[in-house]
Amino acid sequence: MQQRPSTWTASLTSSIQHFQLENGRTYHSYREGKYAIPNDESENDRLDLQSTLFSLTLGGKLYLAPTKNVHHCLDVGTGTGIWAIDYADTHPHVEIVIGTDLSPIQPTDIPPNLQFIIDDMEDTWHFKQPFGFIHSRMMVGSFTNWPRFMSTAHEWLQPGGWLECQDADTLGCDDETFSMHPPSCSLAK
Ligand SMILES: C[S@@+](CC[C@H](N)C(=O)[O-])C[C@H]1O[C@@H](n2cnc3c(N)ncnc32)[C@H](O)[C@@H]1O
Repeated sequence: MQQRPSTWTASLTSSIQHFQLENGRTYHSYREGKYAIPNDESENDRLDLQSTLFSLTLGGKLYLAPTKNVHHCLDVGTGTGIWAIDYADTHPHVEIVIGTDLSPIQPTDIPPNLQFIIDDMEDTWHFKQPFGFIHSRMMVGSFTNWPRFMSTAHEWLQPGGWLECQDADTLGCDDETFSMHPPSCSLAK
């Protein structure tokens, strides 16, 4: 794998890298308090283990959507960047893969077509181009407004593009009085 330093390292302010410390665990500083789960080594190990579980569940596949001719891919809430790195590595023809997160916990040696950006994906999105593929995995508990996320992601899909959400559908209510459960789906534009 050809590697280069990721671009966010140059522009990160020290405040973003200065994580909040509580009861021996660290938490993101950018948009402090927004996401409840720590961002320390122990959590990052858990995310990488979780990624292996997804890989086993999907028979080694990174995604199921029948994507075609993707030039730009977005990984929303990339975490340690493990999915984005694998995707960029195995799809060298994809011009740019962008992984976004609240925490700068991604490695610096990454494939040449990958970029990590620290951003809040519940804010307005400011990308240079629409995407042929938008991926989000295990964002349950991250977004306060899933319909808004789905609608924004749909707006940023290029015609024929796909949004794939791999998530846990654990919240629900059989009389339908609770409707915040996250989606587990692929959506085509
Ligand atoms: C459970 S982790 C999943 C990480 C990764 N998608 C994976 O499957 O390995 C959720 C990630 O979403 C990030 N996150 C939570 N809320 C976010 C937001 N509003 N904007 C961007 N990233 C967010 C967290 O910092 C965390 O790294």
